[in-house]
Amino acid sequence: EIRSVKNICCIGAGYVGGPTCAVLAWKCPDIKVTITDIAEDRIRAWNSDELPIFEPGLDDIVKEARGRNLFFTTDVDGSIEAADLIFVSVNTPTKVAGIGAGLAADLCYIEAATRRIATVSKRGAIIVEKSTVPCRTAESMNQILSALSPSNATFEILSNPEFLAEGTAVEDLLDPARVLIGSMPTTRGRLAQQRLAEVYSRWVRPEAIVTMGLWSSELSKLAANALLAQRVSSINAIAAICERTEANVHEVSSACRLDLRIGSKFLEAGIGFGGSCFQKDLQNLVYLSLSLGLPEVAEYWKQVLVMNAWTKQRFARNIVQKMFSTITAKHIAILGFAFKADTGDTREAPAIDVCRDLLEDGALLHIYDPKVSSSAINRALGPAKGSNVSFQSEQRAYTVEASMQQACVGASALVFLTKWAEFESHAVDWKAIYASMSKPAWIFDGRNIVKDPTALKKLGFIVYQSGVGY
Ligand code: NAD
Ligand code: UGA
Repeated sequence: EIRSVKNICCIGAGYVGGPTCAVLAWKCPDIKVTITDIAEDRIRAWNSDELPIFEPGLDDIVKEARGRNLFFTTDVDGSIEAADLIFVSVNTPTKVAGIGAGLAADLCYIEAATRRIATVSKRGAIIVEKSTVPCRTAESMNQILSALSPSNATFEILSNPEFLAEGTAVEDLLDPARVLIGSMPTTRGRLAQQRLAEVYSRWVRPEAIVTMGLWSSELSKLAANALLAQRVSSINAIAAICERTEANVHEVSSACRLDLRIGSKFLEAGIGFGGSCFQKDLQNLVYLSLSLGLPEVAEYWKQVLVMNAWTKQRFARNIVQKMFSTITAKHIAILGFAFKADTGDTREAPAIDVCRDLLEDGALLHIYDPKVSSSAINRALGPAKGSNVSFQSEQRAYTVEASMQQACVGASALVFLTKWAEFESHAVDWKAIYASMSKPAWIFDGRNIVKDPTALKKLGFIVYQSGVGY
């Protein structure tokens, strides 16, 4: 029996499970939504005033729904048992060892969650793949369920990939471009699909709710991320040509944007894409192509990753080269560490690679990011010199600063790595910043933050912008 949905459980209280189900609970006060995780500190944070992730607008939504029909708990089993519908929003990182290491998705968390559901859910439930998974993952989940669950429990698996972007998660969830729901082509599959569609239809435009087959839905998620990442690599490849030809990539991309067939979004050149998903999902697609015996397809998508790694490296090399080919003992202000603005997330942030390269070349970094904690920077780069940490780890030459101005004091260069609005603000006192820096003072703009380079050059700065040839 496929029950109507009154009680929802979400396994995984991360960047996806948290915001997705908080918005769902906020919009559907009559549905009880329980978000569960094995990570106690994360659940504690979701139940506190300091949420574990920063997303504009999320605090208010959580505050309003929490304790009403939205609950956060480490009681995974209890939450599964009570649920009519279960979102599986666990992490699916790239495997680091074994077969497919460095490419394939590690499905151990998906399997563990599925085993838990099979063991605990007595009546059965609609199981929704929310995590990004390789095509045909539902098949393995089904096998686990059939082998482990009691015979009178009815399960139906749906694919409902998440398309939110960090930093705009709440607005993306409130008004999604589309909600995909993939099911098996059976009566029961279609009924389950309808049940989930009913939940979304409380606030999502009906034309945005798209139903399709399960395998297409799983693959659509990988395809969408691959196409987005490919655009970024494509424009970064053009940017490299611009730098050698006195062309300006921002002018070139604005010309391309006017063509409706190309479209206006995702053509910002810079230091390469970061974030927890683009790289991992492309690796996943490469692995899938290889395992399906399609090496040319694998090679094609791999090149998007090659271009991205090269873009990050090229940016760091440019800094060293322009600063008279040596940055040994030079102080450099790093402005922005998150992988994009409006998030504190540093997973796969280009800043990590750029900072590592600069540290490797002997620079002393002053890092400032409005939302990234010093412990996150520590985890990403290794402990800072002089910090009170285990003597076994090599200590790195950086400090974490409390403001943009402070990071620039005594620095020979400032490097923009995240497009935070405060860096672009008219309130920035460039004259004072210039005065506080070592001379000559460089600006390396990896994020198209400097809109009037001439004015800054007049102050005395030497300005370098990604994708702009002089
Ligand atoms: P995350 O690491 O922030 O969260 C995953 C959570 O799942 C962790 O807190 C972990 O403790 C928990 N977990 C793992 N196994 C568990 C288990 N057996 N029982 C209970 N909890 C368990 O990851 P995320 O960024 O939220 O991503 C989750 C999935 O969503 C990934 O597949 C990702 O590709 C996909 N996705 C992410 C984004 C994004 O913006 N971050 C967007 C779309 C899709
Ligand atoms: C991306 C997708 O946009 C989401 O639709 C998807 O759900 C998500 O991945 C996922 O599967 O996790 P996200 O990684 O949060 O979202 O952020 P994006 O806005 O896509 O940016 C990714 C990276 O690309 C950032 O480092 C950003 O600075 C960079 N980028 C983006 C560019 O360099 N240029 C652009 O034009 C756009």
